[in-house]
Amino acid sequence: MTEDARRQAREQLRDGAERVGARSHYRAMGIDPERLGNPIVGIASAWTQTMPCNLNHRDLAAAVGRGVAEAGGVPMEFNTIAVSDNQTQATPGMRASLVSRELIADSIELMDIAHDFDALVCIVGCDKTVPAALMALARIDKPSVVLYSGPMRAGHWRGKTATIQDVWEQLGAYRSGTITREELDELERSACPGPGTCAGQFTANTMGLAVEFLGLTALGSTMVPADAMEDRERDAAAIGALAVSVAGGERTARDFLDRRALLNAMAGIGATGGSTNGVLHLLAIAREAGVELSLSELVAVSRATPMIGNLSPSGRYVATDLDEAGGAPVVMRELIAAGHIDGGAFAVEGGTLGERSGGAAAPDGAVVFPAAAPYKPQSGLNALFGNLAPDGAVVKVAGTERRAHSGPARVFESERDCTVAIAAGTIQPGDVLVIRNEGPAGGPGMREMLSITAAVVGAGLGESVTLVTDGRFSGATRGLMVGHVSPEAVRGGPIGVVREGERITIDVEAGTLAVDVPDDELARRLAEYAPPAPSATRGVLARYADHVGSASEGATLRPAPR
Ligand code: FES
Repeated sequence: MTEDARRQAREQLRDGAERVGARSHYRAMGIDPERLGNPIVGIASAWTQTMPCNLNHRDLAAAVGRGVAEAGGVPMEFNTIAVSDNQTQATPGMRASLVSRELIADSIELMDIAHDFDALVCIVGCDKTVPAALMALARIDKPSVVLYSGPMRAGHWRGKTATIQDVWEQLGAYRSGTITREELDELERSACPGPGTCAGQFTANTMGLAVEFLGLTALGSTMVPADAMEDRERDAAAIGALAVSVAGGERTARDFLDRRALLNAMAGIGATGGSTNGVLHLLAIAREAGVELSLSELVAVSRATPMIGNLSPSGRYVATDLDEAGGAPVVMRELIAAGHIDGGAFAVEGGTLGERSGGAAAPDGAVVFPAAAPYKPQSGLNALFGNLAPDGAVVKVAGTERRAHSGPARVFESERDCTVAIAAGTIQPGDVLVIRNEGPAGGPGMREMLSITAAVVGAGLGESVTLVTDGRFSGATRGLMVGHVSPEAVRGGPIGVVREGERITIDVEAGTLAVDVPDDELARRLAEYAPPAPSATRGVLARYADHVGSASEGATLRPAPR
């Protein structure tokens, strides 16, 4: 809509006869129509009572609304759904998580289509809500601000810091008889002390931090603990006022989601040992923003970036420790000074990332290291290609010293089959667990394999086995774990025709993932391949399976052929 058309539409809404019905309802909500000439700010939050991650969203949305109103704007709050990977793990509900990303993006976009806001504030927290909001904003392309709702504090168990990652790993230990039920219960009660996103640099905090590197939020705001509500509500009100000030301005969402910004975000993710899901989500955001960006390009940035954040699961500290050390701006300033990110990229508060982060604290040498003497020389995200993944796969080596492995394939048609085998003790050191039919279309929903990787750790197999899957991993995963194998099995990927015992070789330095089967034999098997019957035959999951694209392109939904 042109500026003229927008102005006329607003005038109509304020006093035109044709919009009398809308004004009647605005009056019913206590909104004086005279105010409708001022910026109308849509405030999307992802509040739900089903998870701790987004529990503060209602209060934050109210604070953003106050900030909007005090700055002269008209706040219009609305909710999206949200699905937690953790709450649905090991249940069929785990399929819902990545699917929810599309539904959240669609719902924010549709609310803007319906109400034509002048600016948007998206309040995000749990894993999928962050990329979903960014995808929606890329489509809408209006003045926008994002508010990340903050990490959970870490708990304590046996004198050490504990997070949800420990809970999952110790479940594996309990299944193997290494710890008692009483010890597991004690951990359950202490690992997650309050609201907020999972405490480590897992997927939610990976993406929250990425929002700062995209320049779409207030610098230094994302890693503030979720329960520090006095600070958070103050920040939220300021973001509401900021949304009013950027409404009608030149900078729209795609100015913060261009190629430069997305590569900056990738460097920020790599420098802090962020989740493999960050790659998937940046590819999806790029696709929605119309930016040409490949898996190889993203991973090249990650490989060129030193890891300067000593953060769980690759390191020792959690997100709230990063906040105490100065937050994301400390990492940002180091990376700009060392030439790993472009400090000329825009900041929604005004100016550039370089200008905004210039006053950040120096690295403390514990949570954040200097770029010149990093925690680890290279960030942990890598892409692999080969006859087992012609379109690529993603591996994260930040949490392991291993860079290569070769071993016999142990093939499972689902995550559940593999879990049973681990519990039965039939997995041997050196095995390569192949879990297929768990991709975006095959799952459907590309489940995270957290229970498998935790079971491996818990069974005492440690890093002696590796995992190759067309599914995903939690940001809390450790070990040499290869995910996002593309094409996925049900879309004709070679992972669908690997057989038990065939040798698989992973070489991170060479960037290869190969099965020791001649090309002509693989081609023959693929020509005869028939995918298993779909597990979802109706409703949202079946529709998703029909339309979802490859993980190598972000697993976004594709329009039906016309
Ligand atoms: Fe919501 Fe981890 S499950 S942030």
